[in-house]
Amino acid sequence: MTEPEPPAVAKLSLAETATEPVKGKKEQEINPWDVQAATDEQGNVLEFDYHAISQKWATKLIDDELLARFERVTGHKPHRWLRRRLFFSHRDLEQILDTYEKEGTFLLYTGRGPSSDSMHIGHTIPFEFTKWLQDVFDVPLVIMLTDDEKFLFKKGLTLKQVRAFARQNARDIIAIGFDPKKTFIYIDSDFFYDGYGKHFMHNVREFEHLITNNQVRGAFGFDGSTNVGSNSFPAVQCVAAFASSYPFIFGLDHKAEDRYAKLAAIPCLIPCAIDQDPYFRILRENCSRMPLPSPKPALIHSKFLTALQGAGGKMSASDPNSAIYMSDTPNQIKKKINSHAFSGGQETKELHEELGGNPDIDVPYQYIAYFEDDDERLVQLAEGYRKGTVLTGEMKKQCVEMMQAYVKRFQEARAKVTDEIYEEFLRPRKLEWAGNPKVERK
Ligand code: TRP
Repeated sequence: MTEPEPPAVAKLSLAETATEPVKGKKEQEINPWDVQAATDEQGNVLEFDYHAISQKWATKLIDDELLARFERVTGHKPHRWLRRRLFFSHRDLEQILDTYEKEGTFLLYTGRGPSSDSMHIGHTIPFEFTKWLQDVFDVPLVIMLTDDEKFLFKKGLTLKQVRAFARQNARDIIAIGFDPKKTFIYIDSDFFYDGYGKHFMHNVREFEHLITNNQVRGAFGFDGSTNVGSNSFPAVQCVAAFASSYPFIFGLDHKAEDRYAKLAAIPCLIPCAIDQDPYFRILRENCSRMPLPSPKPALIHSKFLTALQGAGGKMSASDPNSAIYMSDTPNQIKKKINSHAFSGGQETKELHEELGGNPDIDVPYQYIAYFEDDDERLVQLAEGYRKGTVLTGEMKKQCVEMMQAYVKRFQEARAKVTDEIYEEFLRPRKLEWAGNPKVERK
């Protein structure tokens, strides 16, 4: 089994814009399989440049005007992760708001590649956000667990292992608190073969029929030594955005031979990290060419959650000290934050009081900012840190308490995910949702 050749997006990489390659200096690399921040001449890791990637890929930055419209249309104050631009970029979010105003409903779709047993906060935060979107819009949601993808792309994992990860991850995702009436979770390699996946597979074939090897290679940097499954996998992740892949969700017969044009016409919104954008560009470029054309799905992109080690790092499932795991004990959380979290404070208390710290690079502060909803309190904390009145120890302490509370709540919810609840979320069935209360259901 071969891995896709390294710079999976030679084409998309920012390296193109660089002049002479300098020793130690590297441009950032962002693609679905490899995310690395840039380094300077000395080899120091720099922060991700999200504006550069947005420009490069021609996505739109989320701005105050869009958020004001979001609030007008939904009647909800934008989530702190929107206000603080953890979700910073989008494609066609305006159109989804148009749809919601006119039609009252759309499909929400997100997913996860099950690469490890237990999820960390970098994994749960996008799902927390998706749950919030579901609560705000009251629309159906599909969550795809791509065991097939992880098997094809990651060396050293058996299909059996990734399938076991997928089942554990599904329970973690359920613990986030999704509404079972409105949420269908599936594991690719179960769903595709159980009969209910029939229309999904027809969409896969039709999409594969449209896409050439050159297109996939261009977008992902594959070459002739990349395994066949990797070349065709993008079709799977793409057609998952078509409502016509799930007739049962809409109370329609999954065995029907004819496809459902009215389902193909339902728009979709996909919350995802920015590294997933290459998949969905292929989708957006080709969805109107499907036998039953679909509108371009809208996207809302997040940044990467900062690793404990700080700027430029991404929480990694292969480094337990890079992230707070949802299975960590209170003591482990405390230890990790106290000994591994990068601090923007000064070396000594005296220096800190004199010079102040830098909250922008302080990981405990960043983590607090993920969870503290009160904007005012957060500003005060940052100011206190800059002035040196809030000490590093105090910042860490607040962070530890917040993270312990978050993980505790999660673990309690996770313990309540019985086999029955698990089966229910994964059962193909008709979903129930109300959509926009101002729009009459058709
Ligand atoms: N490819 C994603 C991963 O490796 C999983 C995924 C599938 C996904 N469909 C998605 C992520 C839709 C976000 C949105 O984690």
